[in-house]
Amino acid sequence: MPKSSWSLEASSSSVRNTRNCFPKKKFNSFHPGNVSFRYDDRVPAINNISFKVLPGHTVALVGASGGGKSTIMRLVFRFYDVNSGEILIDGQDVRGVTQQSLRKAIGVVPQDTVLFNDTIKYNIAYGDLDETDETKITEAATRAQIHDKILGFPDSYKTLVGERGLRLSGGEKQRVAIARTLLKNPRIVLLDEATSALDTETERQIQASLADMSQNRTTLVIAHRLSTIINADTILVLKAGEIVERGTHAELLQLGGEYNKLWSQQLETVAGNGASAPSAPSADDDKKVD
Ligand SMILES: Nc1ncnc2c1ncn2[C@@H]1O[C@H](COP(=O)(O)OP(=O)(O)O)[C@@H](O)[C@H]1O
Ligand SMILES: [Mg+2]
Repeated sequence: MPKSSWSLEASSSSVRNTRNCFPKKKFNSFHPGNVSFRYDDRVPAINNISFKVLPGHTVALVGASGGGKSTIMRLVFRFYDVNSGEILIDGQDVRGVTQQSLRKAIGVVPQDTVLFNDTIKYNIAYGDLDETDETKITEAATRAQIHDKILGFPDSYKTLVGERGLRLSGGEKQRVAIARTLLKNPRIVLLDEATSALDTETERQIQASLADMSQNRTTLVIAHRLSTIINADTILVLKAGEIVERGTHAELLQLGGEYNKLWSQQLETVAGNGASAPSAPSADDDKKVD
């Protein structure tokens, strides 16, 4: 089992299944209500946060590093229990649901996907190890925009990941994680977008696969590139553990506050380095380690 920030080792030992836990088959919506959480007694990481993610909707978390975005995801996935408030999934407190059923219903695409040193096929199939149907695996890879890339590997889907000759960039690894999640087919997806700058083509491919994955699923996404979430149903701007603004992309631009500032900063960065300028596509984007 590869370690990542989502690994079970990161889980607080205080999280325990209680006697009245029972698995629930269908999760649709979730609702953190008045949630506060601190990792240690001195500083609150999350302070009295409430929002709703309706069935099939996409809610995006944005804001500077340290604002509490990842913490919110960890709480929804129940790596930790809230200190006060509650997280409801379909009206039910996550503390009353088994971690096993919660983790089955929720797909997580982490910022930095750690791959198993096994075949690329295994790495995708890990989303659902009962799924041995090759066509399902290639279909997931196709939808995640990584299929063509895999066909170019020396042994196609049987190519070993991590061996000499096969190094996947951050963008490619994230697409493998997306393929995994598509195969797992959860109703709720938590996605922590890769932070690093991507070239135009990779960004376009990731956007397309993300849009595909979030369709008809309830999605919470941590977005670092605001261009990826302009169509989100709601954007929450986090600062020092609090939601300082909420609304659609258009509403928040109009507001002229934090979000507007972040958006302008990103436009300047793009103009400055040409990362997303249509005139500067990179032919070898997939070789880039991002
Ligand atoms: N494992 C941890 N232990 C202690 N403090 C943490 C831990 N993870 C995050 N924090 C603190 O919690 C706050 C929120 O962090 P985080 O949720 O990672 O923010 P973001 O994802 O928006 O960058 C920060 O002050 C951060 O330093
Ligand atoms: Mg984070």
